[in-house]
Amino acid sequence: MTKRLEIKRPDDWHLHLRDGDVLAAVAPHSARDFGRALIMPNLVPPVVTVKEAVAYKRRIKDALPPESAFSPRMTLYLTDTSSADDIAAGFTDGLITAVKLYPAGATTNSHSGVTDISRVETVLERMAEIGMPLCVHGEVTDPAVDIFDREAVFIERVLAPLRSRLPELRVVMEHVTTSDGVDFVSSQDRNVAASITPHHLMLNRNALLVGGIRPHFFCLPVVKREVHRQALRKAATSGDSRFFLGTDSAPHAVEAKECACGCAGIFCAPNAIACCAHVFEQEGRLERLEGFVSVFGASFYGEQPADETIVLERGDEQCDFAELVVAGTQAIRLFDPPEQIHWRVLDGSGFFDATLVPERRII
Ligand code: NCD
Ligand code: ZN
Repeated sequence: MTKRLEIKRPDDWHLHLRDGDVLAAVAPHSARDFGRALIMPNLVPPVVTVKEAVAYKRRIKDALPPESAFSPRMTLYLTDTSSADDIAAGFTDGLITAVKLYPAGATTNSHSGVTDISRVETVLERMAEIGMPLCVHGEVTDPAVDIFDREAVFIERVLAPLRSRLPELRVVMEHVTTSDGVDFVSSQDRNVAASITPHHLMLNRNALLVGGIRPHFFCLPVVKREVHRQALRKAATSGDSRFFLGTDSAPHAVEAKECACGCAGIFCAPNAIACCAHVFEQEGRLERLEGFVSVFGASFYGEQPADETIVLERGDEQCDFAELVVAGTQAIRLFDPPEQIHWRVLDGSGFFDATLVPERRII
């Protein structure tokens, strides 16, 4: 039996769109389902200044059809030498929505990140004063810390002390992956929130490693034990507005993922909303889907939810999502969830299918 669900148009509060051919190929997929997206600044070189962010925003707009109402919300990449004045001016002028903290070396394109949080104290104090959110990649990079523990140790060593020093600073734990992260956010006041990805709601570390390594399930922070996935599902479907969707859709060429040292990132923008609907239905909480994908993030960032709506449809047949998106000479593999998905977003825009390759590709 077919079932339909109408919800306010979702927003994606953590998105990698890249640049050039990849930007042109992936941006329409986000613009199909999402009204707004918080655009991550980890280009090479990174988006550090307001001027660079404004130019990047223009390139994003140029990658979309003129009729698209998709609204990129820009972030700046925090470095040891970032200018507090430039950042603050960008926020007060409405050009920049948030600042992203990447501990140097924590993830893809983070080598220019912050080497020690004490070096950016002046910037953080200024952000706290003006109410500008800090989005954190919450993992320590200490080689002595096991990769599965890096989020929990970040909370203990960096985030909790930061909260005590600057309680007014608004902080988003990006792509939270552990029960430790969920518990931390839940224990804080309204200045702290967390984004959650569709894939962390669907994958545990067995999915990544049992029966063979699955490079397309590799992302950072890495997927964790089942108990953590369950904690994330509980938080996402709880109706607690501090937890909202950030897809962390992170496209990489197939060759860059299927190799001896495959890079981190899962490209999930095209089926992110379908996957969320699947998870919320499994949890018996479909009525809370709209809050998680369309309302809570906007309200954390001080905005109204969208006026327009989208329609999701659940059919009896499994959805056959495309496998690849072609970007110039590269192919990008779409997140292929380990379970059958029956939900899809009905498309009213007409510009979605242009770059999809429906045929199976054997590697
Ligand atoms: C992201 C990317 O590819 O830019 N990768 C990822 O695994 N999530 C970076 C990030 O958000 O950590
Ligand atoms: Zn990311």
